[in-house]
Amino acid sequence: MTPLKEMQAWKALEAHATTLQSKHLRELFAADPKRGERMTAEACGLFLDYSKHRIDDETLRLFQALAAEAGLKDRRAAMFAGEKINVTENRAVLHTALRAPREAVIEVDGHNVVPDVHAVLDKMAEFAESLRSGAWTGYTGKPIRNVINIGIGGSDLGPVMAYEALRHYSQRELTMRFVSNVDGSDFAEAVHGLDPEETLFIVSSKTFTTLETMTNAHSARVWALGKLKHAEAVAKHFVAVSTNAKEVAKFGIDTANMFGFWDWVGGRYSMDAAIGLSTMIAIGAENFRRMLAGFHAMDEHFRTAPLERNLPFLMGMLTVWYTSFFGAETVAVLPYDNYLKRFPAYLQQLTMESNGKHVTLDGRRVDYQTCPIFWGEPGTNGQHSFYQLIHQGTRLIPCDFIGFAQSLNPLGNHHDLLMSNIFAQAEALAFGKTPEQVKAEGTADWLVPHRTFEGNRPSSVILAEKMTPEILGQLVALYEHSVFVQGVVWQVDSFDQWGVELGKVLAVRIIPELESATEPELKHDSSTNALIRRYRAMRRKQG
Ligand code: F6P
Repeated sequence: MTPLKEMQAWKALEAHATTLQSKHLRELFAADPKRGERMTAEACGLFLDYSKHRIDDETLRLFQALAAEAGLKDRRAAMFAGEKINVTENRAVLHTALRAPREAVIEVDGHNVVPDVHAVLDKMAEFAESLRSGAWTGYTGKPIRNVINIGIGGSDLGPVMAYEALRHYSQRELTMRFVSNVDGSDFAEAVHGLDPEETLFIVSSKTFTTLETMTNAHSARVWALGKLKHAEAVAKHFVAVSTNAKEVAKFGIDTANMFGFWDWVGGRYSMDAAIGLSTMIAIGAENFRRMLAGFHAMDEHFRTAPLERNLPFLMGMLTVWYTSFFGAETVAVLPYDNYLKRFPAYLQQLTMESNGKHVTLDGRRVDYQTCPIFWGEPGTNGQHSFYQLIHQGTRLIPCDFIGFAQSLNPLGNHHDLLMSNIFAQAEALAFGKTPEQVKAEGTADWLVPHRTFEGNRPSSVILAEKMTPEILGQLVALYEHSVFVQGVVWQVDSFDQWGVELGKVLAVRIIPELESATEPELKHDSSTNALIRRYRAMRRKQG
């Protein structure tokens, strides 16, 4: 594999970047009156305006040249074909198979996985519908009114995000809650006010060994049996989503009530696998399938559309562009839709657990930056908190604005007010306000620098008609594939997550040191030793 910085296209982009670093978006727009219409692309139901980026036609040409040199098309084909592109775990990466139509054929080790996917979807649908209709009752015969998903990371963030995003389509009589944190307060608040007789727990864990999830699952069993008394009640109040049938059975959940998935689905790519059971219960099987259709439409777009109008390609390369050539350290994701309030949190795992890597696929230390930090909040709330820094701070922060033409809750002129802010923010960031303009408003000279906006701050605007299950699927797949593009260019394994291991191992070593009745002999560094001692001493004061 040619080291990235030795590639011709990389060197060409580096040189080309210096010409654009000194160009203002005002100049780029002035030079091409059609730029705002030209630099756009559309796929399925998503429209992308990327004209307010610090790029020109040559940049786009070089993006494609870099993709060619990095072998993007071959890597993409390998992923869709089920090749083991997750090299450090020797696994295929086939989240795209989760949304493939019934008749598709996708093989892993010579086995067509599509029928397996649909068998699980059908089983999920049967369960979700029996629960929604009240046919599935609890141990004492009462219908289930509360569903609590217990999981963390990919077994939580996707389900929470999707539930919030599609809440409008959800069965309102059902209370949906989510527990992830090993902090007992999370569990305590999740079950607060609920009746165990009417509550179902979905224990979602790919491995079924994750400390947080298993601790919460055990507390849930104690809580439920506290009222239901009989161990057989577990079968009516607990189901599992996992790849690990052995551990599921050991926990006491009937494997008939287990919804499986496979090692070729990464945790952060699993919200459309059985990990989405809570989503399906909330919105129904039909709407879940609509979401899968949206995912699949974006998969097909990514797989087949020419790169010049390929949304995930364009977005992925823009992230590489600012990270690698403009020193940008973060990307702000700013949905102007309250239903997407958990979307930035979901994206944090998707992007940063995927590409937050410091070695290449063949184990070399990279000599360039990889994944930027993704963060964000829904607009317009963010405008009244951190946008000051985006507009006038010293850092370059590319922004993704996401908005919808139609509101799911039309209310007076709220929606036009909301959307006017997206357009205004993107415009203000790009074009700013010159000192001359500020002076012309009669501003005192000493105040002019404070009221000047440099502009030249890049953003994308993603527009869709309205939030639907299909659009959510498209949006998530858009970012999944954008992450893939970035990972290919940076030459990292986007599908492993070794970086989460060390902390887990150390925590397991520290647990007995906290729990020990006698003063333990501590063999950590002096800071960790002192913190453990201080914690033990402070805890003793507990009343
Ligand atoms: O935090 C690491 C991680 O392995 C994530 O990748 C994963 O989504 C999460 O833990 C939960 O894992 P599991 O579904 O196996 O409980």
